[in-house]
Amino acid sequence: MSLAIFYGTTTGNTGDIAVKVQEFFGANECEIFDVKDTSLSQVATYDQLIFAIPTWDYGEVQEDWLEIWDEVDNLDFTGKTVAFIGLGDQYGYAEWFVDAMGMLHDKIKPRGATIVGHWPAQGYEFDESKALTADKKHFIGLAIDEDCQRELTEDRLNEWCSQVMVEFVAA
Ligand SMILES: Cc1cc2nc3c(=O)[nH]c(=O)nc-3n(C[C@H](O)[C@H](O)[C@H](O)COP(=O)(O)O)c2cc1C
Repeated sequence: MSLAIFYGTTTGNTGDIAVKVQEFFGANECEIFDVKDTSLSQVATYDQLIFAIPTWDYGEVQEDWLEIWDEVDNLDFTGKTVAFIGLGDQYGYAEWFVDAMGMLHDKIKPRGATIVGHWPAQGYEFDESKALTADKKHFIGLAIDEDCQRELTEDRLNEWCSQVMVEFVAA
C-alpha cells in the first residue's frame, strides 16, 4: 500500500501540518506534495491519500486548490482510501469554519473513495461548517485551528494520525 499527502497553503500553516503528518507516518512511507507544484494525475499512483486544505475568504477554497478544482472531477478514486485535514479560524470565521474541507470531500466521495478520519466536533466553537457529518457531531476530517487553538494541534494531530493509520489498514 502507498500513502501520499497533497496540500495547498497560502501562509504556510497547512504546509507545516502536512510535514508533521509525513513525519508521523515516516518519510519512506508517505510522500508529500504541494498542489501548487504537482499534477493531480499523481493521485493515481497512491492507494491511500490525505488531502489538506485551508479555507480562505469567507468559505472559499485556498487559491492553489482553486487552480486545480475542476481537475478533481476527472480523478477516479475507486479502491482508494482518503482522509482530509482542514485548516481554519473558528472565532474569526465562525460561519465558514473549515468549509473548504467539506467542499473537497463532497467532490471526492462520489468518485468512489472510501473516507476515513472522521473527527469529533466537540471542543471547537463555531456557528456553521460545511465539513460536518450528517449528525453534525463530527467533522468529515481533522479540523486544525492554528489561529485560535494552536496549543491543541500537536495532540489532535497525533491522535488523528494514529486513528487514520488503523483505519487505512482496516479499509
Ligand atoms: C482573509 C482571511 C480569510 C479567511 N477565511 C476563513 C474562512 O472562511 N473559514 C475558516 O475556517 N478560516 C478562514 N481563514 C483562516 C485560515 O484558514 C487559517 O489562517 C489557516 O491556518 C491558513 O492556512 P494556510 O497558512 O495554510 O494558508 C481566513 C483567514 C484570512 C486571513
